[in-house]
Amino acid sequence: MTCLTVTDESQIPSLSASEEAVGLAVKGLHKDFGEQTVLTDINLEIEPGEVFVIMGPSGSGKSVLLKHMIGLEYPTRGNVTIDGKPVTDPATLLEVKATLVFQAGALFNSMTVFDNLALYPTEHRIYDKKTIREKVMETLRILSLEDAVGKFPSELSGGMRKRVSIARALVMEPQLILYDEPTSELDPIMAATISEIIASLRNQAHITSVVVSHDRDLSMTIADRVALMLDGKIHLVDTPSNFQKSTDPQVTEFLNPKIDLANPRYKAMK
Ligand SMILES: Nc1ncnc2c1ncn2[C@@H]1O[C@H](COP(=O)(O)OP(=O)(O)O)[C@@H](O)[C@H]1O
Ligand SMILES: [Mg+2]
Repeated sequence: MTCLTVTDESQIPSLSASEEAVGLAVKGLHKDFGEQTVLTDINLEIEPGEVFVIMGPSGSGKSVLLKHMIGLEYPTRGNVTIDGKPVTDPATLLEVKATLVFQAGALFNSMTVFDNLALYPTEHRIYDKKTIREKVMETLRILSLEDAVGKFPSELSGGMRKRVSIARALVMEPQLILYDEPTSELDPIMAATISEIIASLRNQAHITSVVVSHDRDLSMTIADRVALMLDGKIHLVDTPSNFQKSTDPQVTEFLNPKIDLANPRYKAMK
């Protein structure tokens, strides 16, 4: 396992949340897309300031669940609340600063990296120009992106675009950050840096983080609790250490898949 140590918090940008962290509750959430049921009876209580990691195979419904948590998808049944307020009510997201870091970045392609990051604080007049520049540059420095400041997203690698989208979320100083696979496409060192940033934001600024990730190191190191999602259902929610001790066959298969060429999975593909 990569060893993560958050030893020097002065290295992390001073992005203190302006408000307190918020809790998030998912109740009886069910989602159908036409004939296909994607989420079945999801119930979760995420505590203010918690780092909650959702693991699960591709196609199990993780991204769809994240989108419901920030009101980008509407449930077929059930609901999501942030601090007790329904997320589908536009007033909720005017009151609570919440942001989703999309898997593919979702940057503005016609804007430089600097302008992508400065857009939100400038439009919301949160700080003066000089302070915004300082915060943007500091965040880029932490994510080793100083050289990218004047570039356009199309001039960056996939991993750099990913880091820029994380930087843009951090500059917004949110109370709730949802990350969709924040370490995929990153090398192990940069993946560890992202994990350290998520962990130290929790310690420093009481930001609530919900992280969808296949990254076992990230999940087991920084999560307060981990959920395993299988086929649109939450199979188990527990602490990382209990997850690692679990004897549940679906948990052990997911955490430690064995490569076995005699396995029927392989034969089925011939
Ligand atoms: N907007 C949509 N319309 C129809 N089906 C969708 C839509 N978004 C996701 N799905 C389907 O929902 C299932 C779960 O997708 P997703 O949440 O993206 O999985 P993952 O766990 O890999 O993030 C997939 O079968 C996907 O095809
Ligand atoms: Mg996904």
